[in-house]
Amino acid sequence: MQTVVITGGTDGLGKGLALHYLRQGARVLAVGSTPAKGEALLAEAAAVSADGRGVFVETDLTSVTAARELVARIESTCSSVDKLVLCAQRYRLFGSRAVTREGFEHSFALAYLSRYVLSHGLRKALESSRRPVIMNVGTPGIPLGRIHWDDPQLARRYSGTKATLQSFRANDLLGVAFAALYADTPIRYVGYNPGMVSTGMPNHLPQPLRTVAQASFALFAASVPKAVAPMARLLDEPPGAPVTAYRTTRQVPLKGHAFDRETALRLHHLTQDLIDAV
Ligand SMILES: NC(=O)c1ccc[n+]([C@@H]2O[C@H](COP(=O)([O-])OP(=O)(O)OC[C@H]3O[C@@H](n4cnc5c(N)ncnc54)[C@H](OP(=O)(O)O)[C@@H]3O)[C@@H](O)[C@H]2O)c1
Repeated sequence: MQTVVITGGTDGLGKGLALHYLRQGARVLAVGSTPAKGEALLAEAAAVSADGRGVFVETDLTSVTAARELVARIESTCSSVDKLVLCAQRYRLFGSRAVTREGFEHSFALAYLSRYVLSHGLRKALESSRRPVIMNVGTPGIPLGRIHWDDPQLARRYSGTKATLQSFRANDLLGVAFAALYADTPIRYVGYNPGMVSTGMPNHLPQPLRTVAQASFALFAASVPKAVAPMARLLDEPPGAPVTAYRTTRQVPLKGHAFDRETALRLHHLTQDLIDAV
């Protein structure tokens, strides 16, 4: 039986994929921070006859320690992992800078560090499966944002938009560094931009942006089942290249600074130094 690990697997795209793979007969570990959402997922899983194959794992992925504990828990309960899908995200586009207990800026911690820890931490478990794949869901192909090398925690010049965009660009580089570091790995690393999808994501935005976003999502966004279909195709038939990026069904060329190998390795070493101190 396949094992699929999905962070943010209790809502939006992650939940859509969780239900898809439960219907396909896989074991699905859905990670989220809200128990009520986990219970709702398991109730829906029961309705698709998942027979206990759905597991909710409550974890606050803003914490590096918690992400490491999650890796240890998965390694101790699963002999292998076939697919790792990284969806956990909470946009903080406005408002003041938030810092985690471990001292990291919130978006950097949740949207990037957790994905770094899980990608590297679950490598061995993934390599034990037949056709391993990591899908890092973000915004490859959008040329906005950059790594703030002199101040990655944005302590001096914070803005929520800067922090969110930095986390997206860091995830593009995470895939490039992963492929560069593990040249012989069978794992296929796919950066994936789903386009605009009708999830609950706008509900966490402040007003009046929330209403504007909800209205434009209602008009223009794809439904979750529609958005999940091409994601599942890529997960089931991963590309041949070690690292790729897609914007819905279109492949994004890995060109330019956003996917530069040296920049990716620089970020990898900086990140490792940061989390070694935790
Ligand atoms: N929707 C779009 O239009 C769109 C467009 C481009 C890219 N994306 C990307 O697609 C991915 C999924 O987005 P979505 O729209 O499906 O989001 P969503 O509906 O808001 O779901 C976010 C998921 O992340 C989990 N999460 C949030 N904070 C967490 C924390 N501290 N610890 C653990 N889990 C946490 C949430 O669970 P809890 O609330 O229980 O914590 C939820 O399961 C994101 O990476 C996003 O950037 C989405």
